[in-house]
Amino acid sequence: MSDVQTISVELGERSYPIVIGSGLLDGGFDLCGFVTGTDCLVVSNETVAPLYLSRVLANLKGKNIATVELPDGEVHKTVATMQTILDRLVTSRANRDTTVLALGGGVVGDIAGFAAACYMRGVAFIQVPTTLLAQVDSSVGGKTGVNHPEGKNLIGAFHQPQVVMIDTSTLNTLPDRELRAGLAEVIKYGAVCDSEFFSWLEANMQALLAKEPAALAYAIRHSCELKAEVVAADERESGRRAILNFGHTFGHAIEHCLGYGEWLHGEAVAAGMLMATELSGIDTADLMRLQSLIAAAGLPVAPPAIDSDAWLRAMGMDKKVQQKQLRFVLLKTLGESHVTSSYDESCLRRLVGAD
Ligand code: NAD
Ligand code: GLY
Repeated sequence: MSDVQTISVELGERSYPIVIGSGLLDGGFDLCGFVTGTDCLVVSNETVAPLYLSRVLANLKGKNIATVELPDGEVHKTVATMQTILDRLVTSRANRDTTVLALGGGVVGDIAGFAAACYMRGVAFIQVPTTLLAQVDSSVGGKTGVNHPEGKNLIGAFHQPQVVMIDTSTLNTLPDRELRAGLAEVIKYGAVCDSEFFSWLEANMQALLAKEPAALAYAIRHSCELKAEVVAADERESGRRAILNFGHTFGHAIEHCLGYGEWLHGEAVAAGMLMATELSGIDTADLMRLQSLIAAAGLPVAPPAIDSDAWLRAMGMDKKVQQKQLRFVLLKTLGESHVTSSYDESCLRRLVGAD
């Protein structure tokens, strides 16, 4: 067992710890104390359950456990899949003191969290993220939800977990493509709010790709620290939290237009961050640094071919749109960002191939 690190997400009565370490699932951390009553529904998927469900069940020994296994993939991040969780809660006679535990990547976490937010108007929720992306981003901050055929993450709720337990050893089984997708969100933090972290990533990208434990542990911990700070300042995204959507207006449009799951979320965000950086009009040298880091992470540096009308229609469904006006997270410089509806329209049209 490596050192266990704990970061607190400070949200008053909704505050919770993010506990990070290698081997936590094997007894390094007892989840039982965070299960409010005696009953717990563990939600996982067909890929992750065979790998880790038995360890979670052993960790929860003494509790009354039901399980539900979802199909794998972004394409299943739907209201229909959430309904299967709600059905399981009903058939297992779950009450208001039942806890829902999500074991898996961001897709499982987002759907299970949304079910927990809805069932009986909200039951307790635990996140046990098993992808890099979920460990550095989606498990923290309480955004839960599902996709709609017309747009990504359009249906959801803010519902904070009781605890986020990150066992970094689960990354040993994560496919390389998924690891790279997670690195996109790690790079995002450096780009939007921490230039020193950006430089650290430039120096350590090969170690991260090689899954060197110390490098991964630091990248996960620091990403969680940055996210916890932003969420504590703006839980419901009325302002600053929107910077965490850097690249996502373009990225979500890519995911939607190609069909969910064709490009991974992190891949779409990577290409989207470069488009947003071009739209920002910052120094070419900084644009090139971001492009080099994204390329070094093995992520796409250009978007796929998408019809310009499809781009604009998909971006029109972005949750940052206000009064029908697109708003973007743009960089002032590497490590500093803002949300604005003031951008170069002709540059946007060029980026989406409309001119
Ligand atoms: P994912 O959940 O689809 O997981 C990726 C793949 O890895 C899946 O096939 C999964 O079954 C598999 N997997 C998971 N853990 C594994 C492990 N340890 N070993 C082997 N395979 C494993 O994708 P993701 O990248 O984790 O999450 C993407 C989702 O997260 C998107 O839907 C995105 O919108 C959402 N997201 C949400 C937030 C938020 O704040 N709620 C933030 C960022 C992204
Ligand atoms: N992934 C962006 C957020 O949690 O706000």
